[in-house]
Amino acid sequence: MKTRPLLISPSILAADFSKLGEEVIAADKGGADWIHIDVMDGHFVPNITFGAPVMQSIRKCTTKLFDVHLMISPADPYLAQFAAAGADLITVHAEAGPHLDRSLQAIRSLGKKVGVALNPATPVSVLEHVIDRLDLILIMTVNPGFGGQSFIPAMLEKIRQAKALVAGRNIDIEVDGGVTADNAGTIVKAGANVLVAGSSIFKGADYAANIKAIRVAATAMSV
Ligand code: DX5
Ligand code: ZN
Repeated sequence: MKTRPLLISPSILAADFSKLGEEVIAADKGGADWIHIDVMDGHFVPNITFGAPVMQSIRKCTTKLFDVHLMISPADPYLAQFAAAGADLITVHAEAGPHLDRSLQAIRSLGKKVGVALNPATPVSVLEHVIDRLDLILIMTVNPGFGGQSFIPAMLEKIRQAKALVAGRNIDIEVDGGVTADNAGTIVKAGANVLVAGSSIFKGADYAANIKAIRVAATAMSV
């Protein structure tokens, strides 16, 4: 089976919001493959970040793929707005509404890549009947809402289960929450190929070195 490329997607949740555009440019120049954009509504998760207008304002700062993680419920009424504001990949939570299949069709019909995120307690089996609609599965390795939390080790088995469900299809497996250079190797070995990282990239001043450390650790273990 062909190995999928390893991609690093820095989460701007951990960036300095007072200079968000510069932070996105620095992450891009530092070697980010994608830019991870965490949208929170204070309802689905206990925190509020920003919406489509803020995302649109940083669209001009990079040509890298905008990896938009919607932690909002309902999501459907906002999909077109995020698509128009420059999202490339839109990920909704399986727990965010009763009609996941409809949400996935809506994202596809907007011409965007389609992702589903799973909270730590949600089994991979919820994806069995929508798997052929997906470009990406996002395994949350913390409970969503905040940056800087610790990786939940029980999620490694879930990554393996997601990999088994994907069964060679053209679907990325992304991991989000508590990713560092110390655990990146183990995460990739379990089957993930897209690593989101917030605090471990936007710490200190040298984002390039932080991204490289994760990439080197992950590459050493990639299968
Ligand atoms: C958490 C967000 C994550 C967050 C990760 O709800 O979805 O993307 O930014 O932050 P770290 O890497 O600090 O755990
Ligand atoms: Zn996220």
